[in-house]
Amino acid sequence: MRIAIFISGNGSNLQAIIDAVQNKWLDVEIAGVISNKADVQGIDRAQQAKIPTAVFVEKRATFEAMALTQLNEWGVDCLVLAGFMRVLSPEFIDGFTGIMINVHPSLLPKHKGLHTHQRALDEGDTHHGCSVHFVTAELDSGKVIAQNMLSILPDDTAASLAERVHPLEHWLLPRVIGWLADQRFHIADDTLYLDQFPLAKPLQFFEMT
Ligand code: GRF
Repeated sequence: MRIAIFISGNGSNLQAIIDAVQNKWLDVEIAGVISNKADVQGIDRAQQAKIPTAVFVEKRATFEAMALTQLNEWGVDCLVLAGFMRVLSPEFIDGFTGIMINVHPSLLPKHKGLHTHQRALDEGDTHHGCSVHFVTAELDSGKVIAQNMLSILPDDTAASLAERVHPLEHWLLPRVIGWLADQRFHIADDTLYLDQFPLAKPLQFFEMT
């Protein structure tokens, strides 16, 4: 499977994917990395690993047109949003149904959108974590494939949660990509299947790092 990765910043999730590929337990080819922001660390990380990169800082419609041309040139089977902080248009997303995933720092369907760690605290959640889900036109609402969770501690802050959830993302995202590459998942009649088994809820892991 050839994957492209969209980023907007630091790219630590990108790094987790690169490491998994370099360490040979994730058998995919990273065809390229696209950023919608210039001068971000994620682009440095990709270049360090000799992965092709493209930076398109244009507004959404132009970004999408340029990205599409680039993705076609690279020839990708799967698109991974890893800290990509822009909402894509339904038209763009339609072209990648079932092959575009995103990592989100909350236990979806809780806390879609931004400031997820603070919102988990404000709502008195006992658990928090991250989700990897298929991308659909509605923000953070596609079928959730898997989650990696933790217990919120009495003295947790938004900053400490961000710090504790990040490694959970780094564990989960490359693994989900591997399962997709092995064609373990499919969606039929609005139900997500792992192999031939319908999943009543996402695969859940606890503090896996
Ligand atoms: C992650 O927390 C991800 O869930 C969110 O943005 C952050 C990106 O981190 N969407 P990084 O750029 O991968 O370090």
